[in-house]
Amino acid sequence: MSSKKSKGLKGKALLLFYSRTGKTRSVMGALKEALDERYDVELVEVKPKVRIGFFKGGSMAKRGEAVEVEELKVNFSDYDLIVFGTPVWNGCPTPPINAVMGMISDLSGRRVALVVTCAFSAGATVNIIAEKVRSKKGEFAGSLVVKTMFGIRRKALEKVEEFSRSL
Ligand SMILES: Cc1cc2nc3c(=O)[nH]c(=O)nc-3n(C[C@H](O)[C@H](O)[C@H](O)COP(=O)(O)O)c2cc1C
Repeated sequence: MSSKKSKGLKGKALLLFYSRTGKTRSVMGALKEALDERYDVELVEVKPKVRIGFFKGGSMAKRGEAVEVEELKVNFSDYDLIVFGTPVWNGCPTPPINAVMGMISDLSGRRVALVVTCAFSAGATVNIIAEKVRSKKGEFAGSLVVKTMFGIRRKALEKVEEFSRSL
């Protein structure tokens, strides 16, 4: 347990996500609610400068490419916990999240977790992000995959609650 928590102070958490059609946004909103009691949580949405088309987006994701995003006013070293949220595109993280990962050089001392939403399979997404986090010296604290093909069901929200308790 961190010294902050043992003194009864809340840790600081950053929930940073991209969402094209709102599903990842909903899941990250639910995670914020679940974490609010134990963390001071900031929920930040990454916005690409230009809307990304389906086919171009899919092929960029597969190649691990980034897009330009609106300026992010966050200092990653301010947080004890960082949770990235991304949809799965072509089995991979999305270009806006690749852009964010490219902005970060050092995650040492930070616990970093991941939430992905996908229709049916997360493919390589979790491994790709986990590897990037570790290469920046962050502690990869776990991942949650939410399948959204039939909407976000109550069971998925229960999984979010359970995941929050591991963070
Ligand atoms: C370009 C593109 C590629 C996708 N590729 C996959 C995929 O490989 N596997 C999968 O299960 N879902 C895939 N999906 C579905 C999304 O991951 C899923 O609907 C996700 O929950 C959408 O999140 P959002 O509403 O936050 O944008 C893809 C969607 C798009 C737009």
